[in-house]
Amino acid sequence: MSRLVVISNRVAVPKARGAAGAQGGLAGALNSALKETGGLWFGWSGEEAEVPSPEPTVAEYDGVTMATIDLEPQDVDEYYNGYANSTLWPLFHYRLDLTEYERETGRGYERVNELFADSAAPLIRPDDLVWVHDYHLMPLGDGLRRRGVRNRMGFFLHIPWPPTRLFVSLPYHERLVMTLLAYDLIGFQCDEWLESFLHYCRKELGAEVDEASGRIDFEGKTTVARAYPIGIDFDHFSAEGQTGEARQTEQRVNSSTRHRTTMIGVDRLDYSKGLPERLDGIGRFFDRYPERVNDLVFIQIAPPSREDIRSYRKIRAELEQKTGQINGARSRIDLVPIRYVNQGHSMAELYGAYRASKIGLVTPLRDGMNLVAKEYVAAQDPKDPGVLILSRFAGAAQQLGGGDASEGAILVNPHSPDDIAAGIRDALDMPLDERKARWQPMFECVRDESVQRWTADFTRDLAG
Ligand code: G6P
Repeated sequence: MSRLVVISNRVAVPKARGAAGAQGGLAGALNSALKETGGLWFGWSGEEAEVPSPEPTVAEYDGVTMATIDLEPQDVDEYYNGYANSTLWPLFHYRLDLTEYERETGRGYERVNELFADSAAPLIRPDDLVWVHDYHLMPLGDGLRRRGVRNRMGFFLHIPWPPTRLFVSLPYHERLVMTLLAYDLIGFQCDEWLESFLHYCRKELGAEVDEASGRIDFEGKTTVARAYPIGIDFDHFSAEGQTGEARQTEQRVNSSTRHRTTMIGVDRLDYSKGLPERLDGIGRFFDRYPERVNDLVFIQIAPPSREDIRSYRKIRAELEQKTGQINGARSRIDLVPIRYVNQGHSMAELYGAYRASKIGLVTPLRDGMNLVAKEYVAAQDPKDPGVLILSRFAGAAQQLGGGDASEGAILVNPHSPDDIAAGIRDALDMPLDERKARWQPMFECVRDESVQRWTADFTRDLAG
């Protein structure tokens, strides 16, 4: 079996590992794959240095080699805060209103991708499979090719690919996509993002595209693009659920909410997650059904994220204000309807909190996949499973949405407070039989389409 080389912006060195869903899907997702092939993981250390060493720091953890580089403050600013998270992230989540187009940050993005290529190329052996992750590193494959790397190389995009009409607002969009075609295989989370990408290649680049196989022929080079829906590490997550920490968390949540139904949301504090809109939906529910304020406690776990970026600071302030308003208006002496927690939690604690919650509320405005939805399903008690309310705009809705309205998750439009409010009412009133019938197919999907399956599928196709 070829050695796997994973390259991503962040490298999850073990001490920093935590709840995969809460801290972003990438970290938790790749552990198992690398362990299997004794692989190498290369990326940014997350640290800044005035004069970084061009040589990566290499360390071995549990059979996996982790190689990291530090970045200069200006690089972090232009590449990570700038082009990756103030241009590509909002644009790819359909937020043209938040998308900044600055030539300097575009240059910083290209510069850091070249730096990655310089540092990573010498570590790659002839038989390695090279797998690059996410929007930070789209041009990296092209940089590696220019340095003579001939290996099979794949790229996986963890976030949506926007419709062509939005994507063309990006200056130099052709150049970016042309660098992507240096990879042999490009993976997307679901068919919708894949179709947008193929549409772009055909319409804007004039590439020859076979929609059925995802084969793209352009300037004498062939790339295949396919959908590979990411999953969770089901066995590991379930094992976490058997720990004392998980059980205690479940009990603590249950005893603190007494006879009320607990509803839970777990998200990085990001505008794509639809958090203010979610609170509006909850506010609408309380307005419509004031007698039910006693029935429900909502726990929102939202660890802060990317706080050097203005739009992230703004969304945090907005959430604090909205939570305060709803709690101010709806609290009683012995009851606070919304618990808003700005901290990350361990996987075991999250498992316990999900299991204690009879409703999972996952309403991103746009999301590549969303692993919180899958973790919520995995943590339910088969004899008394909770209800998942899921945004129809999350990649996960294609798998968990069910064949018809009586199966799988309750799908809602996250922009509509009325839709969210109706979803909460339906979830609260749902009889046990229906909860079981909806949960069972979701559970099978989450169990079977695990991250191990995702990795095996992608690396099999990459190996060719
Ligand atoms: C998303 C991205 C990941 C990223 C994660 C956390 O899930 O797809 O690439 O690692 O968010 O964001 P951060 O900026 O903290 O790495």
